[in-house]
Amino acid sequence: MLKEISVKRLTVGMYVSLREIPWFSHPFLLSNFEIRNRQELRDILAIGRATVLYDPEKSHSAPLAEDRDVEIANQSTGTVTKSRRKREKASELRARRARFNEIREEFGKGLGTSKWILEAIKGGDPSAAEDARRMATAFGEKFLEDVSLAIQHINLTSTDAGQHFHSLNVMTLSLMLGKQLGLSREDMNTLSMGALLHDVGQLLLPGGIATSPKLSKAGWILFKRHPMTGVQLLSRLPGIDPAVMKIVYQHHEQCDGRGYPKALKGDAIAELSKIVAIADAYDRLVNARDVTRGLAPHKALALMFTKKRKEFQEGYLETFIKMLGVYPPGTVCRFNSGDVGVVVSVDPANPLLPEVVIYDANIPKYDAMIYRLGEDLDLTITGTLNPGEIDREVKGYLDSRSVVQYFPEH
Ligand SMILES: [Fe+2]
Repeated sequence: MLKEISVKRLTVGMYVSLREIPWFSHPFLLSNFEIRNRQELRDILAIGRATVLYDPEKSHSAPLAEDRDVEIANQSTGTVTKSRRKREKASELRARRARFNEIREEFGKGLGTSKWILEAIKGGDPSAAEDARRMATAFGEKFLEDVSLAIQHINLTSTDAGQHFHSLNVMTLSLMLGKQLGLSREDMNTLSMGALLHDVGQLLLPGGIATSPKLSKAGWILFKRHPMTGVQLLSRLPGIDPAVMKIVYQHHEQCDGRGYPKALKGDAIAELSKIVAIADAYDRLVNARDVTRGLAPHKALALMFTKKRKEFQEGYLETFIKMLGVYPPGTVCRFNSGDVGVVVSVDPANPLLPEVVIYDANIPKYDAMIYRLGEDLDLTITGTLNPGEIDREVKGYLDSRSVVQYFPEH
């Protein structure tokens, strides 16, 4: 619990909260932090407040018994310099945030398009095939460009919208993996379309079966028909590539022969189907139908590698894990400061220092800065949270599911 304390009693190691002071009015990058050195003590004095809040539980040192003999100033040279640094940093962070928001907007459009396309296919609209091809190609092309990836990925409850997010997630993850595996342009486009449409057959399942967290035996039998139903739906449309149909039909086949509908083994399964199978399995583990069973991204990868490895193509799974890194985007982490945040993108060359958004009740959700660990902030990740363990308010803040998940940065 936060307590008020005289700024003259603060010591290095105390964890303070400046939440009552507007972010742009104090010189620190975060509003909640542990005081690291004497300069930071001076910077707090320079804010000009007699008291601040601190958190005894998160503090590594105790306050002084009495006020120190120091002045509470309004300005000091040190603070001015630091403020300028913060201003520069703030504008850099704002630019990064603006870019992120642009991506978010574009993703929102993609979501709308995919929803419309899937509905049109369900209704047997012949122009839907061309629209799907156009969208899938546009995505495929983006991934062929030299893009770094800004990705965000948080669970949500199983809803109709969830199904569309799933399609876009699987498409994006499949393309990321396809690119890593060095697929040709033609294969990337086929993969993109197959991944977008892989679960199209689920649109014809009776109400609730596609989203139910727990299926009865009869429900499972019905559910397992969706690869076949998908192919039937697509065959009513003109000019769908047989290779796309194959992805839709085979995306639940497993290399160990324990998949469905045909229990095919290894080489009998098309390469592109194997790629979609990995992306699909991962997204289902993280964005589980039953949200309380959703796994933190790295735990999903660990489970796939330790318990399910035989289901997937050897080499592809390893590439997928390497690609997503130690803290895959969407991982909700706890930091050594006690703060909580979400990983939004990863640099494969620096997997332990991803870009994160930190929960800060003082900063509105869509203005929250994107920090590079190690560069912008001296924080380290001390643990990760499963989707079911995240506080509701924090989840709402960090969850950009309705706006951004996986998307290539321009
Ligand atoms: Fe499926």
